[in-house]
Amino acid sequence: MSDAFQRLLDATIDHLERLREQGARQVPVAPETLAALRQAPVRPNTKKHAPTPSGLPVAERVAARPALVGGEASPLNPTSVSPSLPSGTPDGPGGRLPLDPNRVPAPGQTTAALRALQARVQSCTKCPHLADSRRNVVFGVGNPEARLMFVGEAPGADEDLQGEPFVGRAGQLLTRIIEAMGLERSQVYIGNVLKCRPDTPGQAAGNRKPTPTEMITCLPYLEEQIGIIRPEVLVALGLTAVEGLLGKQAAATPMGRMRGRWLEFRGIPLMVTYHPAYLLRNQHLGEKRKVWEDMLLVMERLGLPISEKQRGFFLKAMGQ
Ligand code: URA
Ligand code: URA
Repeated sequence: MSDAFQRLLDATIDHLERLREQGARQVPVAPETLAALRQAPVRPNTKKHAPTPSGLPVAERVAARPALVGGEASPLNPTSVSPSLPSGTPDGPGGRLPLDPNRVPAPGQTTAALRALQARVQSCTKCPHLADSRRNVVFGVGNPEARLMFVGEAPGADEDLQGEPFVGRAGQLLTRIIEAMGLERSQVYIGNVLKCRPDTPGQAAGNRKPTPTEMITCLPYLEEQIGIIRPEVLVALGLTAVEGLLGKQAAATPMGRMRGRWLEFRGIPLMVTYHPAYLLRNQHLGEKRKVWEDMLLVMERLGLPISEKQRGFFLKAMGQ
């Protein structure tokens, strides 16, 4: 994409977002414009594994993803991931944003598109109280081409200070979970529903839940982020993230019934699991095992190798 085109696209998106903030739900488009848009060149889908790999035998799918195989010993449960084939057969999510199938970035363009979006988010003042109180906008971190994306609720104090999501205690636990999956933090993408820390006026410390208005205001940024990265699987961490993604009604379902099965966000398979902060508060091994079972489902869906040891994490400790 040329710079001029990128600027035009950004300006158009800004304009449409402002209209949406003002309550517009539709925009008139002249028939000539529609005709011209239809003739716009459609770039081939060049993203890695773009044609859904589910048609390939498992072995080829794994071979096609060298970055996924292997893995470091995990601090959560030290092990090295065996290079065995996955025991589960993912049924090929083929998760592509249905919103705009033509917005498919060529290699390297996801980085450029993410940077352009980040620049816009960086100067956002849509929530003036948060823009006033934040030290950093916490945009997101990781691989722009990630196949797996984690979504949390909002930055806390540590994240606000460092400008990076999930770096505090809960974040360190998330990192250990990612490593236990045989992945590294830098291979996946990590973001939040809110890009600014919810302010806590009059309080020296502490966190508060983002308000519905804050989440609705910020959600378009996350949607764009997901649209650029186009992960094959999303993981929502905690019910607040679910509320941000799917709305208040969806988040009224208890976590116990929501986790462990596949939902969808904009056509992308979505796994909901407990927030790592919950695991820190609730040291019960059974809860850790549930999160781990959710991650095993994610690994299966992505065709990642799963060792026997990984399958058994926490079971022995739980006496099973
Ligand atoms: N492996 C990657 O390289 N990226 C992901 O997001 C998941 C697995
Ligand atoms: N909790 C979240 O939900 N997100 C972060 O970035 C950190 C903690």
